[in-house]
Amino acid sequence: MTLSKNILITGGSGYVGSRLCERLLNNQNLNIVNYDISLFGDEHLPKNKRYIYVKDDLRNTIKLNDIIKNHEIDTVIHLACISNDPTFELKSDISKQINYDCFEDLVSISKKNNVRKFVYASTCSVYGITDTPNVTEEHELLPMTDYNKYKAECEPILIKYLDDKFTGIIIRPATVCGYSEKMRFDVTVNILTNFAYNKGFIKVLGGEQTRPNIHIEDMCDLYENLIEMSFENHNGSIYNAGIENLKIIEIAKIIKNIFQKRLNRNIDINIEPSNDKRSYNINSDKIQKELGFKFKRSVEVAVNDLLDNFLNGNLVDTFNSKWRNIEVLKEKQNELKLY
Ligand SMILES: NC(=O)c1ccc[n+]([C@@H]2O[C@H](COP(=O)([O-])OP(=O)(O)OC[C@H]3O[C@@H](n4cnc5c(N)ncnc54)[C@H](O)[C@@H]3O)[C@@H](O)[C@H]2O)c1
Repeated sequence: MTLSKNILITGGSGYVGSRLCERLLNNQNLNIVNYDISLFGDEHLPKNKRYIYVKDDLRNTIKLNDIIKNHEIDTVIHLACISNDPTFELKSDISKQINYDCFEDLVSISKKNNVRKFVYASTCSVYGITDTPNVTEEHELLPMTDYNKYKAECEPILIKYLDDKFTGIIIRPATVCGYSEKMRFDVTVNILTNFAYNKGFIKVLGGEQTRPNIHIEDMCDLYENLIEMSFENHNGSIYNAGIENLKIIEIAKIIKNIFQKRLNRNIDINIEPSNDKRSYNINSDKIQKELGFKFKRSVEVAVNDLLDNFLNGNLVDTFNSKWRNIEVLKEKQNELKLY
């Protein structure tokens, strides 16, 4: 039985949201509202009678209230945000408004308008640098940047509002990889594959930092499962979501092998020093045990998917700054205003 019908995706024009909306539209029982200011473009959005695109700002609480009320939204998947460290820092006062200050409004408006399930996409970078080999959800949060700090500080706000009728789950995703209708070429696996395909070499900064990964289709599987299930027995639970904890150099070697095998092309790996010390290994046993979630796809699959899309011409001009959030926001920074 589908427990949800009318779904609000905030950030549905972004990297994860675009893929997710396409996937959800395959389910004939669902109506999707994408609420997004579309900082990174909206030419790619689907056209479908069960899909409504509301181009507006999360901080516009009057509009948000109208949309949730008028579309009788029962499930919110909250993805919208200024979604990495450098983009957050660019205009940190505005970023804080978007990622943190208006979060409580979104939650309270949802609750007031009878939303039954709320999913918050936090991030597993809330753990910061740690030597713990297997970081579970109980691990202390040591956010190293304001982006991470405010992502973490939203979590208890949601939990405070939850009850029997308004239920919620928090996901801490690993770094997402693979093909989306709205690509990001500023996340590790995608960056390195882009270099390999278009430049014939991979630049690795540091290389010894370990980071967890999740294939974008697994990420979407997870949100889809959450849409279909009741949160009754998991209300307020927090779950890591990522499987392969890989050193950047290991990712580079995976890509090198795939290019060798499929294209018979040698890819050089050039290692350069880096100040980015973020390194962590996450453990995602809890989500597999409690929710029965199965990770199905590896980083290798993501690289192969990306390569397919390079080869079939879906991915062109991929060093254009429009694929990197920081570059787009630098160009648009005067358009983004404080509310
Ligand atoms: N991509 C990853 O590797 C990753 C990893 C961990 C967590 N996450 C989380 O998952 C979510 C989705 O990530 P993504 O990679 O798709 O991000 P993205 O940057 O591609 O998309 C974010 C979307 O939010 C929208 N947005 C920003 N400010 C807004 C505002 N004021 N009003 C309305 N919309 C606004 C943007 O226009 C964009 O379409 C984010 O919350 C992110 O923190 C992502």
